[in-house]
Amino acid sequence: MLPNVLHPNATDHVPVLADEVRESLALQPGETLVDATFGAGGHAELLAADMRGSGKLIAIDRDPSVRPYFDRVRKRTGLQGRFLRGEFSDVLAQLAGNGVQADAILFDLGVSSMQIDRPERGFSYRTDAPLDMRMDPASDLSARELVNEAGERELTRIFREYGEERYARPIARAIVRRRREQPFERTGELVDVIKAAIPAPARFGDGHPAKRVFQALRIAVNDELGSLEAALPSALEMLRPGGRVAVISFHSLEDRIVKRFLRAQERGCICPPDFPVCVCGHEPELRALSRRPIKPSRGELAANQRASSARLRAAVKSGGED
Ligand SMILES: C[S@@+](CC[C@H](N)C(=O)[O-])C[C@H]1O[C@@H](n2cnc3c(N)ncnc32)[C@H](O)[C@@H]1O
Repeated sequence: MLPNVLHPNATDHVPVLADEVRESLALQPGETLVDATFGAGGHAELLAADMRGSGKLIAIDRDPSVRPYFDRVRKRTGLQGRFLRGEFSDVLAQLAGNGVQADAILFDLGVSSMQIDRPERGFSYRTDAPLDMRMDPASDLSARELVNEAGERELTRIFREYGEERYARPIARAIVRRRREQPFERTGELVDVIKAAIPAPARFGDGHPAKRVFQALRIAVNDELGSLEAALPSALEMLRPGGRVAVISFHSLEDRIVKRFLRAQERGCICPPDFPVCVCGHEPELRALSRRPIKPSRGELAANQRASSARLRAAVKSGGED
């Protein structure tokens, strides 16, 4: 896939679980869609087709380079639209605070192919580039700061928790030792230190040896789990009765946050278990569309490797007709 930012084309980013997202969000003409992770607009364009050119699209992304993709989608679909650049938890909180309502909200988490394929963004362990990994190039924390300034224990935690890296501690130790002599500037330097810190046989198993550490740093740099946790309540607040929310996650920790949120909102009575009768009168806020997360089909997995860890959870807000 070629990196292509100024002249977006159809091959930039393949939307994952596209049919399943369409089915879950079931958009109708005239409705309002919030795409909280707009990227190349692949999902938005498909969902706009379901709206048959009638309705509103509110597109959010913290990466300003997606703007041309938004312009393209708006032109092609004829939908009324707004692009709001920012962190989705902040933008959704503002929209909800201003009383903006939505019929469907989509989160397709993580990074886009365009972000990974542009070496200068520093997301990839495959090409030597400045250590960056910020989805929003204006945000304060980059991978360079994290790798050069976080303590050994913190780095170990990040690699273990977010990357499930077996050699988290030796890698963190090797990073701290090396940066005392010379701070890290480039992804290639980090890849070399990771490779040297893990035992030789482990370098050849389970993908690229730097894959898990890079994923972990990206999650930490962009506070991906914190953003998701903060955004879900605002999304729920914005939804109209009968409105739908769908979340595609690529990491078990993300999926766990979504699962717990949906379970908590599905609860009716929240009285203590020893109360003989319900006195709280609490009603469920959401109804999950499936118990288990929806996974990509075999066909999709064969066509798009990026889909392999994708999991979709979707729910409907109470109070609609069904
Ligand atoms: C996987 S891509 C979305 C691709 C899109 N669904 C498509 O079909 O083209 C994720 C996008 O969400 C953005 N993003 C991720 N986390 C975000 C957050 N917390 N706030 C705003 N944008 C975010 C990224 O910058 C990236 O462009």
